[in-house]
Amino acid sequence: QDRYAVFGHPIGHSKSPAIHQAFALSTGESLQYEAILAPLDGFAESLQAFFEHGGKGANVTLPFKEQAYALCDCLGDEARLAGAVNTLTRLTDGRIKGDNTDGLGLVADLERHIGSLSGKNVLLIGAGGAARGAILPLLNAGIASLTIHNRTHSKAEQLAEAFKAYGQVKACTLEALTHSFDVVINSTSASLSGELPNLPQAIIAAHSICYDMMYGREVTAFNRWALDQGAGEAIDGLGMLVGQAAKSFAIWRGVEPAVEPVLAKLRSELA
Ligand code: ATR
Repeated sequence: QDRYAVFGHPIGHSKSPAIHQAFALSTGESLQYEAILAPLDGFAESLQAFFEHGGKGANVTLPFKEQAYALCDCLGDEARLAGAVNTLTRLTDGRIKGDNTDGLGLVADLERHIGSLSGKNVLLIGAGGAARGAILPLLNAGIASLTIHNRTHSKAEQLAEAFKAYGQVKACTLEALTHSFDVVINSTSASLSGELPNLPQAIIAAHSICYDMMYGREVTAFNRWALDQGAGEAIDGLGMLVGQAAKSFAIWRGVEPAVEPVLAKLRSELA
């Protein structure tokens, strides 16, 4: 059986093994997928040992995505521009290819909910690693414009500058957020601590679709706020998690699994 794994620290609560095992069953692919706790100072060694023992591919999660990016022999476009890798593949010639499927998973989940993103004006809140990984897939999905807003404005400006060759993208301060958007995405880590980024009501209209990359059993703080402002729909990031896994699986196995059954199961199991 071909071997796959997810590397992280911590890794105990990772849903990736269950997701990929479910994908293997539903597609009839025969594979093994395990979670590996890499030492904080030993990610490269741990990964090398895995590939030397026949590992075909690996997912990478916190805090190793930038280290994974640095050790790849070649990179997909999304990974190159994100500066981070969540999917490693051992090519037949032994080289390691790095991809980043996080943003692709986000776009796939948005499209699953609202159809095409073509022509949409999108506001991305946050300018950390999660935001960076989303930008190229969003621009490639045919959106009309991408506006990036971040608490620390200079970081939003840097991101807009880095991606300006790929589409309509600009940074926006809090004061300049005076109109509504079709899609509003929260990529900040604020929800982790139940906090809310400081945002004006004006960004939300009845047609606005809001997306929080975080998820939980309860509606996230950002989605609660968005619904309270009158947003048409608020979606959490569980579908992005399953979506990125489906894109990784497709890279490795050449077949893209259905996300809905796995998503429904995970939703019912959320603690
Ligand atoms: P990640 O890789 O998850 O994106 P990160 O790179 O640490 O994590 O970035 C965290 C993002 O969340 C940043 O955009 C951060 O804003 P700053 O650049 O101003 O620090 C944002 N963030 C975290 N907590 C926040 C809060 N309470 N309000 C607004 N933004 C917050």
